[in-house]
Amino acid sequence: PHSLKAHAMDARMLFGFAVNIQKLRDDAGYRALVEQQCSIIVAENAMKWQALRPAIDQFSFADADALVEFASRRHIRLRGHNLCWHEALPEWFSRQVTAVNARQLLREHIRTVAGRYAGRMHSWDVVNEAIEVKDGRPDGLRNTPWLQLIGTDYIEMAFRVARDADPSALLTYNEYGIEQETQEAAMKRAAVLLMLRRLKQRNVPLDAVGIQSHLQAQPAYGYGAGLRRFVQDCREIGLEVFVTELDVNDRTLPSDVSARDIGVASRYRSYLDLLLPERNVTAVLTWGVSDDGTWLNNGKDRAREDGLPQRPLLFDDHLRAKPAFVAVRDAF
Ligand code: XIL
Repeated sequence: PHSLKAHAMDARMLFGFAVNIQKLRDDAGYRALVEQQCSIIVAENAMKWQALRPAIDQFSFADADALVEFASRRHIRLRGHNLCWHEALPEWFSRQVTAVNARQLLREHIRTVAGRYAGRMHSWDVVNEAIEVKDGRPDGLRNTPWLQLIGTDYIEMAFRVARDADPSALLTYNEYGIEQETQEAAMKRAAVLLMLRRLKQRNVPLDAVGIQSHLQAQPAYGYGAGLRRFVQDCREIGLEVFVTELDVNDRTLPSDVSARDIGVASRYRSYLDLLLPERNVTAVLTWGVSDDGTWLNNGKDRAREDGLPQRPLLFDDHLRAKPAFVAVRDAF
């Protein structure tokens, strides 16, 4: 009754985590927490190209299959992340993929992966992070290898092939950096909307938008009306919205652990209070389970200046619920 999934369900929503397959296998406490708290999960890395494609003519499905099995045995919904992105590409990509074979390769990948799990997925992030206003293209498209090798219609192609391969998954466009009330985020939201509207006009199969939601505890301009308007604009073009990768970077908060935990919790609460009233917001997932697994301690640009590890998630290293857990639970 006190679980996040139960509270989310009362609000007719799904709640879940991005999970690490290795931990799900090895750590019984981690596994139990996922079972207890989640009505939906997503692989943090196991369904990316890098994980699925050891070679240009090979697939490795062991981890992804195990996750699909885990979820379906427990009636936990599963998101697929992702089918087309400019990161997490295999090391052979830059050597072996050319304008001659790229289109066929992407098509074949989507057919094979989405087709393998057809009927078992809640949703697929078909295209991830395709907009970048700083690249200066008038259409706002990011200058990715896929764009360079295939052309601007790679996005449309990816969605069409995904629908063919799995007609029942909600096909999602997933993006970051569209949350804040900054000029840059506002421009990015506008470019995303322009792209989504164009796709809809062309009858491209598209069901949802993923707002990654890698948040700052104290951003310069916060989160507010611009984001809420974006969610409403999405509803007007018939799109659901998922909060797909929620976490709170605490680098601007003091070293003191309990002060930080409270600051992080209040950011979770105010962010969800902003979005959850919008009825096309139907799922919330945090990007990880407990602080020890967060990706935020990896890159230099994301690390804290005092060198302490970040505490961006709902559970601590010992899988104990933090104030952020209560904040999210009560927000539903
Ligand atoms: C991150 C993972 O969390 C890391 O473990 C990995 O090393 C790099 O990718 N946006 C996304 C996610 O869409 O796939 C990224 O995940 C985080 C940013």
